[in-house]
Amino acid sequence: MENRSQWGTRAGFILAAVGSAIGLGNIWRFPSVAYENGGGAFFIPYLFALLTAGIPILIMEFTMGHKYRGSAPLTFSRLNKKTEFVGWWGVLVAFVISTYYSVIIAWAISYSIFSFKLSWGSSTDTFLTGDYLHVADPGQIGGLVPGVLIQLIIVWLATLGILFRGVKKGIEVANRIMIPTLVVVFLIIVIRAITLPGALEGLDAFFKPDFSKIASPDVWVAAYGQIFFSLSIAFAIMITYSSYLPKKSDITNNAFITGFGNSGFELLAGIGVFSVLGFMAVQQGVSVDEVVSGGVGLAFIVFPAIINEFPAFNELFGFLFFASLVLAGMTSLISICETYIAGLVDKFKISRAKAVMFGGGLAAIISFMFATRGGLNFLDVTDYFINQFGVAVLGLVEVVVVAWLFRKLKEYQKHANDVSDIRLGSWWTISLGVITPIVLGYMIYGLFKQNLTKAFSTDNGNYEGYPDSLIYVGWAIAALALVLGIVLSLIKWRKGEEEVKSIQDREAN
Ligand code: PHE
Repeated sequence: MENRSQWGTRAGFILAAVGSAIGLGNIWRFPSVAYENGGGAFFIPYLFALLTAGIPILIMEFTMGHKYRGSAPLTFSRLNKKTEFVGWWGVLVAFVISTYYSVIIAWAISYSIFSFKLSWGSSTDTFLTGDYLHVADPGQIGGLVPGVLIQLIIVWLATLGILFRGVKKGIEVANRIMIPTLVVVFLIIVIRAITLPGALEGLDAFFKPDFSKIASPDVWVAAYGQIFFSLSIAFAIMITYSSYLPKKSDITNNAFITGFGNSGFELLAGIGVFSVLGFMAVQQGVSVDEVVSGGVGLAFIVFPAIINEFPAFNELFGFLFFASLVLAGMTSLISICETYIAGLVDKFKISRAKAVMFGGGLAAIISFMFATRGGLNFLDVTDYFINQFGVAVLGLVEVVVVAWLFRKLKEYQKHANDVSDIRLGSWWTISLGVITPIVLGYMIYGLFKQNLTKAFSTDNGNYEGYPDSLIYVGWAIAALALVLGIVLSLIKWRKGEEEVKSIQDREAN
């Protein structure tokens, strides 16, 4: 009847899911988030978030993809026609993320090349914003930057080429090569890092538990935020990937492997990052907290500075680090793009090739906007708004729809238990029905409180220096993902409702 693409092997699926989860967030986000939120003590809220939200939602999304066998929009419309928009919303959030995530990978490609000659010189901050990105004043666009554009085109050609080859021959093969390579390269970096002088000081700062912090709700919110972002959940990604699972597939165990694999890598990154930060602090004779950073600054300013100070093989370690950013980023970007390619194929009954061309092509063109001199500032604002609202709001809507509005948890629990080794107990239903909605609800309350006052006041709070117009663009993008999602869900399915309803028959046989 229907011949939906399938993963070739169980390992192939797990590697793809892990590849999606392990991304820039693991390398540059986790270490600083953990450090700022209690160091060693952060592991308590972090593990709690992993076990009450991360893995339970992963199991839920794997179950939905496996049960309804559709892209996120098709999956949600099979759950109930009224909820199709949730699927599109996730797809559109992913679409926006792909337009700037690709740009960061392009920077990492440039920096891999710069490593050969340590071209960033001694003032790595002015090199990034001046020599490399030619950053314009906030809000201004100011022309394309050729040094970014070329690498960006390479990123898109590679990504779309892989997606074009399909699930088994493209995505699975790419992850089978890239993820083991990434792990090996990263292990080499971490081993070098922990043997550097000063590494222990760094690790001490990282792991030293500050238990006074974990009484603060903010720290718990940070833990949930990290888990959501890091595991690629609530963005349509995991539903899409699990829709390619064969009928006989373990769900629950796969989710545990993915969740712990991702967290293991995150921990490894924390150890590596703080070892080199300790090294740098000792070199400069300052304390570790003076050199801690995260995000773009950590990867493209602090890291090159540390590489400069390496005792030997500076070029090699520079290259290995930026190559691992490229690998980690590429396997995530592939999963992010697959959400809309699958959505287009299902809804409009077009070929995969056409979907890759339209969907991927459009994302590529929009991404050029971030390769302009104003790109860094646009990227900053877009990332903030789409992630905050994607993570918290979309996550809440998803669990409320499934757990409360349509009361599907029992049914999904049975579905997962029928195919999995590990049996789901009441911890799963309680996590999704009670704990996750409460935490996310609280997160959203805080988010709106903070952003409404900031975005609508003249001084812009922490967007210091950004004009109001840029902040409104951020709000507009976040809102547009929802509005367009609703619009897309109103369009009729190419093969009519039959196709959408046919899942019941499939379940029966
Ligand atoms: N989870 C991946 C990361 O940690 C990629 C990703 C980020 C996926 C944001 C979706 C949203 O970078």
